[in-house]
Amino acid sequence: MTDEDEKQADNLDSMSEPACSGMALGVIGAGRLGLAVARLALGAGMTVRVAGSGAPVRTRQVVAMFAPGAETVAAEDLVDVGTVVLAMPLSAIDDLDPGMLEGSVVIDAMNYWPETDGMRPEFDDPTRPTSTLVAARLAGAQVVKALNHVAFRDLEAGAKPVGSPYRIGIGIAGSGEALERVAVVVRCLGFDPVPVGSLAESGVLEPRGPVFGAAVPAEQLRARIDAAQGRIASGDG
Ligand SMILES: NC(=O)c1ccc[n+]([C@@H]2O[C@H](COP(=O)([O-])OP(=O)(O)OC[C@H]3O[C@@H](n4cnc5c(N)ncnc54)[C@H](OP(=O)(O)O)[C@@H]3O)[C@@H](O)[C@H]2O)c1
Repeated sequence: MTDEDEKQADNLDSMSEPACSGMALGVIGAGRLGLAVARLALGAGMTVRVAGSGAPVRTRQVVAMFAPGAETVAAEDLVDVGTVVLAMPLSAIDDLDPGMLEGSVVIDAMNYWPETDGMRPEFDDPTRPTSTLVAARLAGAQVVKALNHVAFRDLEAGAKPVGSPYRIGIGIAGSGEALERVAVVVRCLGFDPVPVGSLAESGVLEPRGPVFGAAVPAEQLRARIDAAQGRIASGDG
């Protein structure tokens, strides 16, 4: 992390608890992760729009059953939501209209799985985290990596109100106001945001990184990331 990133991380740590009720969140991908995020957001009082693959009529039933209260929409109807979670297979990024999310904060929760995505060497380059490719594809959107390193079941089981013991830390990578907004969303969903640096440093959150699969409190997550990033883990961020 740069000095500026560290300063922003300190600011995020000292943020007061956000007012989540009524905040809008879009989700693309009505599968395990997307619906889990939708349920957590609804539980926080947020208004949620979910877009699946294809026409809304195909997705409506699954959303009504597994995330009742969320609105099913076409992906194009997420243009004005402001904050949109990508919870679809990474390779489906090829199908998204690159201009559609212009001006939005995009939370990239996707991981590369060759079994699902096919063999895609460009998604498998440790020097270029996949979120940097997502950001390049969605030029005009502000992309932040988050919500990708914890399994959906652990997210649902571990979401807790602020101050609860063993509140899970969620690594977030990005910069500027977009990172701040995503930190708020992560808090609303029931987790503690742990900034890890810019999008270029989001590899620590990816499947081959040190915290993938880790549903642990923020200080433990921070220590593992610090160790991986070559700093001595002091435990105080
Ligand atoms: N599962 C987890 O615990 C977990 C945790 C963290 C991150 N992730 C990441 O989240 C992403 C989704 O994983 P998942 O486990 O939720 O997968 P999943 O259960 O298979 O769901 C993926 C959903 O994405 C939809 N989809 C496919 N192409 C789409 C498109 N072009 N536009 C909109 N929706 C599209 C699929 O719809 P159709 O069925 O109609 O094709 C499906 O409903 C992956 O990148 C994964 O690595 C998963």
